[in-house]
Amino acid sequence: MNDLSRTNDLRHVIEADRAHVWHHLSQHKPYETVDPRVMVEGRGMRVWDATGREYLDAVSGGVWTVNVGYGRTSIADAVRDQLVKLNYFAGSAGSIPAALFSERLIAKMPGMTRVYYANSGSEANEKVFKMVRQIAHRHHGGRKSKILYRERDYHGTTIGALAAAGQDQRRDQYGPFPDGFVAVPHCLEYRSQWGRVENYGEMAADAIEAVILREGPDTVGAICLEPVTAGGGVITPPKGYWEKVQDICRRHEILIHIDEVVCGMGRTGAWFGYQNYGVQPDFVTMAKGVASGYAAIACTVTTEAVFALFKDDAADPMSYFRDISTFGGCTAGPAAALENMRIIEDEGLIDNTVAMGERLMAGLHGLAERHAAIGDVRGKGLFCGAELVADRATREPMDEKRVQAVVADCMAHGVIIGATNRSLAGLNNTLCLSPALIATPDDIDRIVEAIDGALTRVFA
Ligand SMILES: Cc1ncc(COP(=O)(O)O)c(C=O)c1O
Repeated sequence: MNDLSRTNDLRHVIEADRAHVWHHLSQHKPYETVDPRVMVEGRGMRVWDATGREYLDAVSGGVWTVNVGYGRTSIADAVRDQLVKLNYFAGSAGSIPAALFSERLIAKMPGMTRVYYANSGSEANEKVFKMVRQIAHRHHGGRKSKILYRERDYHGTTIGALAAAGQDQRRDQYGPFPDGFVAVPHCLEYRSQWGRVENYGEMAADAIEAVILREGPDTVGAICLEPVTAGGGVITPPKGYWEKVQDICRRHEILIHIDEVVCGMGRTGAWFGYQNYGVQPDFVTMAKGVASGYAAIACTVTTEAVFALFKDDAADPMSYFRDISTFGGCTAGPAAALENMRIIEDEGLIDNTVAMGERLMAGLHGLAERHAAIGDVRGKGLFCGAELVADRATREPMDEKRVQAVVADCMAHGVIIGATNRSLAGLNNTLCLSPALIATPDDIDRIVEAIDGALTRVFA
């Protein structure tokens, strides 16, 4: 850590934070007696707080964001160079980094051709919802405007995105929500809605079709799905699920929107999560790992077929996508994203993610053999979860306070892990791990050791 980070120098920072900053996702009453945590510096997989404590970060900045790790001077340099050349111009015009990043990105996404820039995952998803609605108005006589979303999935914090949230605790107290968002059943086999069945994945897909038939296929425009559900419990899709979902959507002419805000940019061991499952989407949204948090950037990527629907009648002044994102015109985002992508490629981070993901999963399975509190282990690449239960036989979820005690114990031992929280009442019981794609075998082993120790101490 550098000199700026010494505890004595930072006392006033902590006091300023306590006095004025409203932290995300936080109840502030405890901060009247306990210092809020203020993060100061990061290098690779490690971060330091204002008291000088060092942590191994197993969640890439808390919310699966810093994919290439902290302290990347080459990204900072690329952003600085771009900012002094041209920091901003509205997205109605192009910019050098936006053009070049879209070209690089599209090369990783066969079948997709267009990139619409914005500045948060929620916003990128809202763009899709608006596009779907406009397609319905212009091409389906106002029908096909409904958007399906899945129980346990999350798509962002704005009211439209929350209308598409399958998580009761994220939605509660923020309604009323806009009409036209319809839930479909989740696909977490461990919490099967149909008991133990052979073909759970197909049944979960069939359950989507049942909703489509109930609503009327001519009223449904799109389905919005996470490739691997993140905050809803690290839910990997069951066997046979995606093939069938894709088939159902094609048969009913329903556009497929994949929310890659968490899974995108290497996290699951492929450039995009959907690429693990043979899906061909119509829309893909992404944010967090696109520039690893070095600048704010989000992208809504579409096929040429979708794009063509917005330029078919140049004589109609209302026919194009009449949307703007002011900060979608910031050049820092695509400049950082270009360098971020170069790092992932040149350092072989996708291969590392596959290898380290396997090591992490093996470690978690090893823990499950020794700790009865682990009911299920799930994951893809460096995106893994362990669902904690009070009783393995009945699968009764572990009490949330005890799950949080495991997280707190890891933190006390210098390792930051996450857990699902305020997502699903009674089911905030999954430990979440998403280390940076640069993780080494030693990092992975230390994360597993910390969880081992925490489970031993909390459930002894
Ligand atoms: C799957 C998913 N989609 C969208 C979002 C919203 O992204 P943002 O917070 O950048 O608006 C999140 C945030 O965690 C997410 O997990």
